Amino acid sequence: MHVVILGLPGAGKGTQAASIIEEFRIPHIATGDMFREAKAAKTPLGKEVQAYLDKGLLVPDELTIRLVRERLQQPDAKHGFLLDGFPRTLPQAKALDGMLAEEGLALTHVLYLEVSETELLQRLTGRRVCPACGASYHLTLHKPRIEGVCNRCASALIQRPDDKPEAVAVRLQENLERTRMLAEFYEARGLLGKIDGERSVKRVYDEIRQALRGDHS
Ligand code: AP5
Repeated sequence: MHVVILGLPGAGKGTQAASIIEEFRIPHIATGDMFREAKAAKTPLGKEVQAYLDKGLLVPDELTIRLVRERLQQPDAKHGFLLDGFPRTLPQAKALDGMLAEEGLALTHVLYLEVSETELLQRLTGRRVCPACGASYHLTLHKPRIEGVCNRCASALIQRPDDKPEAVAVRLQENLERTRMLAEFYEARGLLGKIDGERSVKRVYDEIRQALRGDHS
């Protein structure tokens, strides 16, 4: 199972990824998480990408493709994966095809979460995340059991720097056209599964499960 979850910032990729990897037992490869971890650890990569991340700009393709190539070579990714946040540009999509082809593989599913811009703005500016385990919540739409505290690991929740309104506007601008082009790219190959991402977290997941089980149950 070689799956890409595609969608604009705030579409619910991370939220749905948590359920997918639990049920289908595949590793979650999220470029945004990898960049944030590098930034927090102040590695050379983290220092290089910090400004892009905080402003909501895309990290250059070359750097991102290299990171994913190395990650896909890890043993846990040899029998399937869920890519979240990659590809984000056509050059990244073509590079991914090349990486998989080298191993005689190809993508099996591209799940496209469709959500309106109005809803995305509300979701992103209200999002709170757990800096320890990465769980994602929302001030009103998806509250933790105890306000400001992670359900999973009890750490204090924070707001991502790129969820501040000015960075959110940049992120949407950066991604709107590119995401549309990626959706067209995968649709032309008969791989795209469009999912209405504006329904409840559970209903969205039910449809994802159906799409993934279609040929893998
Ligand atoms: P990344 O971390 O990938 O951010 P993103 O794509 O902007 O996606 P988000 O994590 O913001 O949203 P999501 O779709 O995961 O939504 P979530 O589930 O959290 O990337 C960050 C940065 O890294 C980029 O800006 C860029 O700088 C860099 N980067 C990463 N990949 C790159 C690449 N390939 N190339 C270049 N640069 C790259 O949900 C959002 C909120 O909505 C939450 O509060 C959640 O609780 C709520 N919610 C979710 N689903 C629902 C629902 N169904 N109903 C109601 N609320 C919901």
